[in-house]
Amino acid sequence: MAADVVGEAGRAGVVAHLHRQADACEGLGSPFYAIVLRALAADASADGITARLLREHSEDLHDTAVGLRLLGGVHRLVLSGSAPAVARHYPSAGGDGHAAAAVAPILVLMANQEAAIRDALQRAPQTNEVGRAATLVGALHHLVAARPLPVRLVEIGASAGLNLRCDRFEIQTVDGVSYGWLGSPAVLERAWRGRLPPPTQPVEIVERLGCDPYPLDPTTADGALTLTSYVWPDQPERLARLRGALAVARQVPATVERAGAAQFLDQVEPRPGTWMVAWHSVMWQYLATAEQQAVLQRLDQIGAGATPDAPLAHVAFEPAADGEEFLVTVQTWPDVGLGSGVRVLGQAPPHGIPVDWV
Ligand SMILES: C[S@@+](CC[C@H](N)C(=O)[O-])C[C@H]1O[C@@H](n2cnc3c(N)ncnc32)[C@H](O)[C@@H]1O
Repeated sequence: MAADVVGEAGRAGVVAHLHRQADACEGLGSPFYAIVLRALAADASADGITARLLREHSEDLHDTAVGLRLLGGVHRLVLSGSAPAVARHYPSAGGDGHAAAAVAPILVLMANQEAAIRDALQRAPQTNEVGRAATLVGALHHLVAARPLPVRLVEIGASAGLNLRCDRFEIQTVDGVSYGWLGSPAVLERAWRGRLPPPTQPVEIVERLGCDPYPLDPTTADGALTLTSYVWPDQPERLARLRGALAVARQVPATVERAGAAQFLDQVEPRPGTWMVAWHSVMWQYLATAEQQAVLQRLDQIGAGATPDAPLAHVAFEPAADGEEFLVTVQTWPDVGLGSGVRVLGQAPPHGIPVDWV
């Protein structure tokens, strides 16, 4: 009897969680996932396969985004060709986008591929959003216009390091003017508007180095599959940007070390004749307060040794204090004419496009 009561409560929690994630997906532009998640909530409520798979996660539903882990596992099977009946309805696999029709084959797949789905439930969703490179490239334009030096790009929380190749992406303004690498397989359409960053000679990145506690290798089939599986299947622009950036990554090497931000920054120093640009996007919230402080102290320390010929910049694209807006900010050591302290260069939605430059 007691076990039944616990089971009931757990199931109710799963159902509520799936509805919350459905609402979030709807708000963030994935009506397809919203419909699928609501159908999975109904299945969980009726004690179907969804309840059986998620029951043991009922304690940590919200923190671990279990619904998105589950759908990431389904998407992985779809993209790898192991789920043709589901793929028929997944836009990312050329399907018809009929979410309601996808539900029955998804439930069959979850029952038949229980081990693969349970494995997916253990993995944190890992995304690397290429649209955020639009914010970084604009900031690099400001820096290089102020001091025309090649750039050593150092990224904390780099995920797969796709944005370490940002100079090899084509950036298009809302008026159709192109910046960056014309003809790149990665095109960021309608990415800039407002008071555009100053035109410069092409930004030259001479070193691409990042860190992440859970790095992915975008040059392997498995790394590419993992990254693609966490993009929502009815978001064709994000998928196209990701697929373009994966093609760039196969041509342009970059290194992402397995390390946390503070530990990683201990080993980097400015170098004469180059900008050292320390950059991060949508990762600050994952750092404990002590690590955030350690990162800022380390940047101050590096900055104290920076010179006009070996300057340091801290570029970030992170939520503002109110959590509503995402801001592009820059701070340089020494001041190169952009002003002292942290300056706001622009703002953008969470996926980075379009950037409103101020
Ligand atoms: C939302 S993802 C953003 C990834 C990438 N910056 C982007 O914008 O596409 C957050 C990243 O922060 C990483 N992360 C978590 N804790 C970290 C830490 N202590 N130091 C560095 N990166 C961390 C995660 O592994 C993940 O790759």
